[in-house]
Amino acid sequence: MQKKTVRDEGVSGKRVLVRVDFNVPMNRNGKIEDDTRIRVCLPTITYLIHHSARVILCSHLGRPHGQVDEHLRLGPVARRLSELLQRSVVPLREAIGPEVMRVVSEMKDGEVVLLENLRFYPGEEDNDPGFARELSLLADLFVNDAFGASHRAHASVVGMAEYLPCVAGLLMEKEIEQLTSLFEDPARPFAVIIGGAKVGEKIRILENIIPKVNLVLVGGGMAATFLKGRGCDVGISAVEPDKIELVRRIMQKAESLGVRVLLPEDVVVAEKLEADETAWVVRVEEIPADRRIADIGPLTIMEFTNELKKCRTVVWNGPMGVFEIPRFSNGTKSISEVIAGLSATTVIGGGSTAEAVTQLGLADKMTHVSTGGGASLQFLSGKTLPGVAVLADK
Ligand code: 3PG
Repeated sequence: MQKKTVRDEGVSGKRVLVRVDFNVPMNRNGKIEDDTRIRVCLPTITYLIHHSARVILCSHLGRPHGQVDEHLRLGPVARRLSELLQRSVVPLREAIGPEVMRVVSEMKDGEVVLLENLRFYPGEEDNDPGFARELSLLADLFVNDAFGASHRAHASVVGMAEYLPCVAGLLMEKEIEQLTSLFEDPARPFAVIIGGAKVGEKIRILENIIPKVNLVLVGGGMAATFLKGRGCDVGISAVEPDKIELVRRIMQKAESLGVRVLLPEDVVVAEKLEADETAWVVRVEEIPADRRIADIGPLTIMEFTNELKKCRTVVWNGPMGVFEIPRFSNGTKSISEVIAGLSATTVIGGGSTAEAVTQLGLADKMTHVSTGGGASLQFLSGKTLPGVAVLADK
């Protein structure tokens, strides 16, 4: 890798600020549903502990948009990390300020603290230099191990570079190396499967991905906006109205490049996305006005399966339906199983897609399960991630 990593720096006795992506699924009672994003950062954290650094961890959790949200405090994450490390991890109630300064100044070599959710501060998402500077005062070195957040030009991702030497953590290094080699000269046909939430954002990235792939399969939360763009009524499904034009442009661009974009032919519909709802399968031309799309249907699963079996590279980002609810999980489950059985390079991108394949026990059947959703898609699109661009070169 061209970028410096934590191994290229002397860290002994230094205060090291480590940006991690501890954006874990957590319920309202602070129970962490999947701790993968904590576990994958252990190599960097233990490296720093064993090399006598003072480890100051920082992360975002959810999207509180500059406000304190009691349900998005990082205390439960500190507790889980402490169990995994089998040593104390001190959770702080703030990310900057005199109290944080005091605690950090009293840290001893090998000790670990976790700052409070960075997104409680408006300066984080605004990449405010004042906020970045205050954060940087806590440390001598900045390590970015948050591959999953490195597509965000936020203060703790790019702003730090103005004030501290910036190097990659070991997870960041692994993600960059794996994705670079997997996407360098992909075997074809190459398919990307797009589903899940964060629809507007993914549609924008998809525009740049189209020229790189041969086939796009659309499902999950993305399907409604695409179907609407093709003129289908999608009932009460959530649609991004300001992205419809972009969707049409993407479909035209795909057509002109000979890239096929397949949308669902049938879907499971329900009134509410709840476990005991009445649900049934309809063709997409017949979605009732008072129902929403909850999953892809059996015809679509069959068609997607047939297409995927011909592919030699598959990137999957976003579940095919509301997989957390068993009756709407069939699409995600079936597609996971198909991908797991392919003799192809298979890359799973993103929190909820990774969570789904892990829950199904299929993660080790994939070539690479990335910790980044939007980040791995942006990587595939060929655009340099802002958080990677600012890391020091070797
Ligand atoms: C993710 O979950 O993909 C990352 O943690 C980034 O989160 P964000 O989309 O809220 O910036």
